Amino acid sequence: MLSVEFFAGKPGGYRVLIGDRTDGLIPPLLSHIHGCKAFIVTDSTVETLHFNKLREYLSGGGIETHSFILPAGEQNKSIDQLKMILEELLKHSFDRDDILINLGGGVVSDIGGFAASVYMRGIRYVNIPTSLLSMVDSSVGGKTGIDLCGVKNAVGAFFSPTLVIESLEYLATLSESDIRCGVGEIIKYEMISGLDLLGGYIGSGMIGKEVIAKCCSIKKEYVEADLLDRGKRKILNIGHTFGHAFEAASGFALSHGEAVALGIIAETRFGESIGAVPEGLSDAVIKRVSDCGLVTDYSSYKEAASVFIEHDKKRNGDLIAIPFCSSFGSPFIEQVRLLDAVSFLKNG
Ligand code: GLY
Repeated sequence: MLSVEFFAGKPGGYRVLIGDRTDGLIPPLLSHIHGCKAFIVTDSTVETLHFNKLREYLSGGGIETHSFILPAGEQNKSIDQLKMILEELLKHSFDRDDILINLGGGVVSDIGGFAASVYMRGIRYVNIPTSLLSMVDSSVGGKTGIDLCGVKNAVGAFFSPTLVIESLEYLATLSESDIRCGVGEIIKYEMISGLDLLGGYIGSGMIGKEVIAKCCSIKKEYVEADLLDRGKRKILNIGHTFGHAFEAASGFALSHGEAVALGIIAETRFGESIGAVPEGLSDAVIKRVSDCGLVTDYSSYKEAASVFIEHDKKRNGDLIAIPFCSSFGSPFIEQVRLLDAVSFLKNG
């Protein structure tokens, strides 16, 4: 088992435990929730795959367990579902000593983590991510939230889990496209760190726990430096400014990871066009994305994406802060003119 510790020795610190088999991860989970009631939040897809086994582990450990099954899909990261989770917690008399467990991908950890942050002014929660994307990104770092009026993560809180349990067994139930979605996010970590994280995947189609642990360690550096995402943590959004716009422009036909990989390519090209990034870097980026089996052509989304960029909520007047890399392993943030980004997408 591998372990990555966030904020080691500090209040609010937590461990991310990464193992090949779920049963090896259960003893630390049970000792973490010993003497408390547990409330599992999961979604209707994960329920059929992994929920019963987790519930059996908990009842085998003598833990009183209740649950909430969210209908699968981003559209359910809503205030209505949040209200239902909170009502169930109240109905079963959960108190501050009890614990919430999120079993699922990013939607589950976002809404479940947010419920934990507001219920009784905050109860502890554990993330058990079941998607690759969530193992390497959304289950660590403490971003929680729901969507409101069509705006993603419009309401939320920075509220860290108290434990994260990552089992590679869950990856076996993912489709190839789900795996590619996580791979898109791992390419981001290659850009930030300059490390070869995906060479093994390109050869075998498999992701090992060392790679997942490395992604979490890279993320840890940025989260610990800037938990509230005011400065350095924005580096973790490489590829996401254009990527979110492509994702929306595709009507969500592109997965998040595919859109991020396209975003990394487009932002690198844009950086080259304004002189922020050395010429030629985009060729290396395109090769990496293509070697990983992800799409590299965003031309059909450019026009629609330019409208989304114009309304990006991260804009600051006429400017927008975009993280770039001057080479693999050398990230930086640059304030660029929104007009330049829009015109690059329209005409570039
Ligand atoms: N997903 C980027 C972050 O957690 O900051």
